[in-house]
Formats: sequence, C-alpha cells, structure tokens
Amino acid sequence: MKQSTRWYGVFIALLVAFAAPAGAASRERLSLDEGWRFLQGDVPLPEIKGHGASYANAKAGEAQGPANTDYDDSQWRRVKLPHDWAVEGPFQAEQDRGQGYRPRGIGWYRRYFTLPNSDIGRHIELQFDAIATHSTVWINGIVVNRNWSGYNGRYIDITPYLRYGEEVNTIAVRVDAQVMEGWWYEGAGIYRHAWLVKRDAVHIATDGIHANPVLKGRRWTLPVEVEVESSAEAARSAQLDVTVFDPAGAVVAKGSTRVRVGALDKATGRMELAVRNPRLWSVDKPELYRVRATLREAAKELDSTEIHTGFRSIRFDANTGFYLNDKPTKLQGVAIHQDHAGVGVAVPDSIWEFRLRQLKAMGVNAIRFAHNAPAAEVLDLCDRLGLLVMDENRNFNPSTDYLPQMQWLVRRDRNRPSVILWSIFNEETLQGTRIGYEIARRMVAAVKALDTTRPVTAAMHGGLFAEMNAAQVLDVAGINYQVWEYDHFHKEFPNKPVFSSEDTSALMSRGEYTTDPDKHLIASYDDDAVNWGQTQRNSWKLINERPFLAGGFAWTGLDYRGEPTPHNWPSVSSFFGILDLCALPKNAFYFRQALWLKDRTIVKVLPHWNWPGREGQDIKVRVATNAPRVRLLLNGKAIGEKDVDPYEMATFQVPYTPGKLEAVALRDGAEIGRDGVETSGVPARLVLTPDRAALAGNGQDAVPVTVSAVDAQNRPVPTANLLVRFETAGAGDIIGVGNGDPNSHESEKAPERKLYNGLAQVIVQGRRDGQGELKLRATADGLQSTETVLALQTGSAIPAVPEAKAVVKLGSWRISPPQAERPDPNRMLADNDMNSWGWGEPPLKQAPEALRWRSYRAPIHLRTDLNDGRAHLVFREIVGKAEVWVDGVKLGMKTTPEPGALSLPLGKGAAWRTMTLLLESQPDLASGVIGPVLVEPGAP
Ligand code: GAL
Repeated sequence: MKQSTRWYGVFIALLVAFAAPAGAASRERLSLDEGWRFLQGDVPLPEIKGHGASYANAKAGEAQGPANTDYDDSQWRRVKLPHDWAVEGPFQAEQDRGQGYRPRGIGWYRRYFTLPNSDIGRHIELQFDAIATHSTVWINGIVVNRNWSGYNGRYIDITPYLRYGEEVNTIAVRVDAQVMEGWWYEGAGIYRHAWLVKRDAVHIATDGIHANPVLKGRRWTLPVEVEVESSAEAARSAQLDVTVFDPAGAVVAKGSTRVRVGALDKATGRMELAVRNPRLWSVDKPELYRVRATLREAAKELDSTEIHTGFRSIRFDANTGFYLNDKPTKLQGVAIHQDHAGVGVAVPDSIWEFRLRQLKAMGVNAIRFAHNAPAAEVLDLCDRLGLLVMDENRNFNPSTDYLPQMQWLVRRDRNRPSVILWSIFNEETLQGTRIGYEIARRMVAAVKALDTTRPVTAAMHGGLFAEMNAAQVLDVAGINYQVWEYDHFHKEFPNKPVFSSEDTSALMSRGEYTTDPDKHLIASYDDDAVNWGQTQRNSWKLINERPFLAGGFAWTGLDYRGEPTPHNWPSVSSFFGILDLCALPKNAFYFRQALWLKDRTIVKVLPHWNWPGREGQDIKVRVATNAPRVRLLLNGKAIGEKDVDPYEMATFQVPYTPGKLEAVALRDGAEIGRDGVETSGVPARLVLTPDRAALAGNGQDAVPVTVSAVDAQNRPVPTANLLVRFETAGAGDIIGVGNGDPNSHESEKAPERKLYNGLAQVIVQGRRDGQGELKLRATADGLQSTETVLALQTGSAIPAVPEAKAVVKLGSWRISPPQAERPDPNRMLADNDMNSWGWGEPPLKQAPEALRWRSYRAPIHLRTDLNDGRAHLVFREIVGKAEVWVDGVKLGMKTTPEPGALSLPLGKGAAWRTMTLLLESQPDLASGVIGPVLVEPGAP
C-alpha cells in the first residue's frame, strides 16, 4: 500500500474512533456537514413598527427573518460543509486585492434536525470549527452565539433550547464575510466542519482533557486534568478513570479519582501519572500516545473520550537554537495560509494531508500557520506526520470579546506534541509601544495560565529595541524579514532566544523561465524576491550561518489567493509559494530540498528543454543540488562541470540544441545522482495521476489528480497550455479544479481547466455511502483522452445527524380566558394588549361548568412550497367541539366532543394568516388540543 493511502486510512480510522467510541453510547459526536440550505446575500428584515411587533421582536424564540424557525427557505440552495461561497464567485477588479479580487458579502445557512425523546436530559452541544467571518447562530429562533473571528471554533451548549420527539429543531446562521481580519484570501461561509455532540448531563468538557507530558530530570510524568461539566439538576459525583495507551495500544499508565460537580457547574479531576521510558515523539518518528478519560456513576459509563499526546522535550537556547529531545534541530519552516485550488478555504482534511505531505517531502520540519489557528484536523495531521508547529493567534487584543479566541486555541492544542510555540501576533504596529507591551503582557499571562510548557512568541517587524516593546514579555523573539537585525538583536539580548518568524517572500510562476512584468510572469530560477525579502537560497544562508537562530519560516510554503505581489489585477493569487496553489512543486521546492535534505542526493536541472526558435542561443541552466560538484551533459556530451556552492548552487549558460540535457551530481569524481530534461514534441495524449488509488466513500475524502500531457513518445510537454474537460461516473464528484496560474480567471468549479505550463489539478470526492468506483475522464481537442479509476472504500462513513424536513408548526399561541358564551372568532385584541389573553400552547384542561368556551389564536405561516392550495391544517387530536377560523373565514368544525383529529384544507393566498380555534368543552370533561398543530403538504 502506498504510504499516503496508509496515512489516510489511519486518519479516517481515528476520525471514526473519535466520533463514536467503540461500544460506548455514552457520547456521540455526529457530523453536521451535510443537509444545509444556503442563501447567498442578506435578507432585509421587516421594519418593526407598532407595539405588538416590537414586543414580539424582543422575545426569546421570536427572532425575525431567516433566523425564525418558520422562515421559508424552500427555495434556498442545498450545500454541504465545508463550504466557501467566495471561491464559487467571479473575479472582479473592483474587489479587494487581499481577498483575491473576489466578492464575499453576506450569506445565510439553515438546517433542520430532530432528537429522540431519549435525548431529554442529555447535554447537547453544537460545534462550529470556524465560520468566515463574523457569525450569529440561532437555535429555534433564539440567538445562541455571536463570534467575531473567522478562525476560532465555538462550542455552543444548546441543551435548553431544544425540542424532542417529532418536533423539529432549526439551526440558522448568518455569516457576514464583508468584514476582514486579514490581507489574504479568507473565504466566506461555514468553511470547516460542524458537529452535534451528545453527552450525559455530567460529562467531560470539550477540550477538557489536559494531558501534556513533562520531563522532570530524567523521568517523564503525565499530569492529567479533566474538566467535568454538568447540566444536571443536582450535584452529582462520578468516578474518573484515566488510561494511557502507548503507540502499539498497550496500557502503560492508569489513574482514578472522584469528581463531585454541582448542578450547572464545573469541577476538575486531577492526577499525576508516570510513564517509564516512553517512545519519544520526533519529526522522524512521530510516536503518539492516547489518553482516555472515562466518567462513571456506579456501574454506568457517563462519558468517555480521548486525546492523543506525545513525549518529547523542547528547548530554545539563546546561543545554539532549538532542541527537540535534546537534539539540535534547526527549524526548516514554512509559513502557510489555508486555501487550496478549487476549494478555497473549504479544504477537505485529505487535501490538507496531501499539502502537508508535499511540504514534508521538501524537507520542511516546521509549519507556521499564518496568521491564525488552523483546523484541529490539520494539527492532528502535524502530530501524526511529525511536523513542528508555530500555532498563531489572530487578534492582538486582550479584551473580553477577543481573549477567548486565543484561550480556545491554547486549550485545544496544548496536548499536541507538534506545537512548540504559541504566537500571539504577527507584525502589529503597536509592537514597539507601551500599549503593545501592555497588550502582549496580558496575552502572555493568559497563555501561561493554560500552558507553561511552551514558549510564547510573536512575529515582529520592528520595535524590538524600543524602550517598551512586546518582545520584553516574550520567551522567544521572532523577527520578520529584517535580516540585518539578527546579529544586532543577538548582541543586544544575548539571553533571549530568537528565530526568523518570517523571511524569503521570493517570487516565481511555476514553469516560467522569463520574467515579464507586463504579462505578470516571474521566472523560476530563484532570482526574484520582494525588496524586503530574499531568494530561497539567500534567506536560508542567512539563517543557517547563524547558530543562535533557531531556524526560520519561509513565506510561503504554498501559494494562496490574494496578495499577488509584486502585481495587482488581473493577477489574483500569490507568487510567493514554494508549491503552487495546487500544492504542486515550483522550482523553489527543489532549491529547498537541496538546502534542507541531508540524507539523500538532490539534483534537479532547470529549465525544461523545449526552446524552439532559440537554437544556438544561450539558455540559463541552474542545478538545484546538495552535491559538491555537478557535470552537465547535452545529448550525452559533457559541456560543463563545476563545484557547487551549497547556497548559490550551480549556474551555466548552455547554447540550445534540442535533445536531452542532464545534470550529474558528483562526489569525489563519482556519480551520486542524475536528473534530465528532454525536448518533447506536440501534446498527443493526456495523463491523469491520482495521488491515491482509492478513496473512502464517505462524502469527505477527496483525492487530487494531476493532469498533464505527453507527446507521442510519452515525454511530458512542460509548455502545454491546452484546455482539458473532465467527466465523472460512479458515486463521486469533482469538487474543484485549478492549475496554479496566479493570473487565471477560470472558474474553479467548472468541469474543465487549462493546463498551466503542462499541469492542472482536478479534485474528486466520493459521495457519502458511495460504493464501487469513481471514474474520471479527461478529454482535450485533438488529443487522446484518458481515464482513471479510483476504488471507493465503504464502511468509513462518519456518523452524522440526519437531515430533517422543515415542519410548519403553529406557535406563539394566545389563549382567551374561559367564557360562558361562544366568543366572536373575529374579535381582535388591541395591538398593545399583551395581557388580557394568556400565552402558551392550548392545554388539555377541564373548564368550569359555566365557562365552557375558549378561543385559541395562532399565526400560520404558509411557506412558498406549502402555499399551493393543497396544504392542510392538521390537528392531531382535539378534545371537545371546535370551530376553526382563518382570517375571518370559517375553515371547518368538529361537531362531536369526543377526541378526534381534524384536517382542513388551506387555500392558496396570503403567506401569513391568523387562525382562531373556538373550543367548547363538555361538562366535567377536560378539553383541549393534544399534540402539535401542523401545516402539512397535500399529496403530490
Ligand atoms: C509580511 C506579512 C505576510 C505577507 C508577507 C508578504 O509582512 O506578515 O502576511 O503579507 O509580508 O511578503
């Protein structure tokens, strides 16, 4: 099995394991990714005028517009999460450059679900892993969360607002993506996963396990803290058991304690476990331990969950840099944003795995998630793949509206072996002021309150020497770009560890070899960088030659939308990436490999060798290599040989003759590696290369497929720019296309894409419960088409909350006092009269002998799909005689007092109507309405 397939298999197995612990019904973590309705744009809310309307507007459960339970969303589009609507949109010159010249705006999402009666009393939490950018969430018309960042998750206790049994719950989310938190592409919408977590009233809090191994002297301990929360009605006690499993699954430590938690309160269970001679986590061998916490009340398991962690020591030394497990480890890092070709910021977990694998193959051992928290699944991958992480907070603000975003990040990530640095900001203009110092001081203290084992840093681009500045409260200083400050800082602050938090900002267009400012093309020789940055080679030289620098983070590992520096419109994505937007290597990748990889020979000759019309002219040839010497062969003949500078590498001028150009890497005269490029003919055939041969049919797993063209002799054609069309068959779909061209305005959601310098990417995804095969076919005019077949693996579906149908149920009932006479069904209450009739659902009640009549009144909302003349107003059971009136017209009646159903047709007409039910009870008998009153669709 391919390495990547195995990784993904492990990843899915873990996802499933986390979602539904084997045999334990105590906790359910259910996906809410599917089944959403979506409206792009805002909905003007009705103007609130008059007492009745203002009064209603102010009440819990009566939210207006699409936030209201009864809102008509029947015409909305159906979408699946993760979802980014910005990437579906056009490119427009008048839009913001930072956001990739794409409109963002406002959008609404709604979803329905039901809960069985057996869930009554359980704790139910709604989780959104991130929404871009500001969002408001309602449950059943009650606002339950407002969040002012596009990068943090939130865990919303929705227990008090829920309906059970056949009643339907409505989630409504308004997303405001007009606001920006960055100067890069941020996407728009619910672009990470959503979950519904059901637990016992007494349960382990989300992110409530803190188990981060600590090395004391030569002994490892595992201090464990488990936060227990309760939504129960009285104090309860539970036994907390903690078990630690080694990477092979063997139990290596156990502990127990009792926890008593008050009603609607929290309590913490603590213990200190010892693990003897654990297998250490490292970038080469990322050994993970699992820590399982279980809460029990007598014999009953209340809740059980687990996290993974790793045993590793970290240390930053002001003179000698970073140590992992006491081993000097220079941080060979890249900074990255979070968008990918075809999908925007809604990147499937498996595409993240591909991105990170590509980076790791380049010799990356550290990632800076700039300038915000990544998804938990992405950090899970870093833990599993062995990548060190600089985990960065977005908003530099310790106020109560923002500090919780950073606290959430630290709580979520503080068990992770990958995370070695907390970063509280990037390039804040206040960094060198008293205000910056004071803000930083508070944020550092907030981090330390949650984790003291990792240093706190920030990425600074000035202010380091100011009388008061943020670096004074940081454990480790990060310097962005200002390479001349490396030595200066170390001299001034010889005891403060320091690293390059950002550098490089070199520029290239994949597969281009001529810089042409008019065409927004940048050659791929690694000669171009912004004036505040350096080439790939030079930036690493500056870092590597300084032992006191712990390493650096190159801007950027991957291209991203927005910031098309040094250009503007019509360029729409960055030129900085070492990999392009599809995570396909630019030449920068090979330079980094040559700089970073020590365990194998890297030799890569550039450019390609297709230069018709340039015969006899000099072509610049550069060899990216870590070998000490290199020889060039053209059509088998030696044409040059050189010693290689480890940073500059080797450059030649070669008069062009078609054929084969080869670079031979030499050590002590012997060949240790070879690379070649060959002149090709015109494209003859398409080639599809999927990253994996199989994928899970679970609606989530996605595979990137590289599209290329070869000539009649099967030689790749690196200059092909032709249009390719795609078709799928079987239980899967294309979810996006790309080609890494920062100047392309082609749709990312179309079933076609041009090759850009020989390559494009198409991303396919298996459907939920998909079985059999997924076939992808590629065709191009005049070329032999091609097909690839991916096997769909079943059995990996992530447990999910089924989507319920919208139900129109009458609510907001008013109830008249009992009366002796038949009331006038058309008697209207004054708009400001909130008290002469009561509120609530029609009860089943015995009326006094003399006062046998009552009126019950409720509004009816006929959604568009119900307002067709076929819908019925359905009373499951009425006890007593009844008359039903709608908008002054008698709709029907029930003439017998015995319990019975009533179903009355609702004619086509107004969307909002007023229904009045006159109920006459029988002496000595209770009367009323049993069960919900619904508007049900007519038979089709
Ligand atoms: C830095 C900034 C990055 C990016 C980069 C481009 O100043 O931190 O987010 O904008 O410049 O060179």
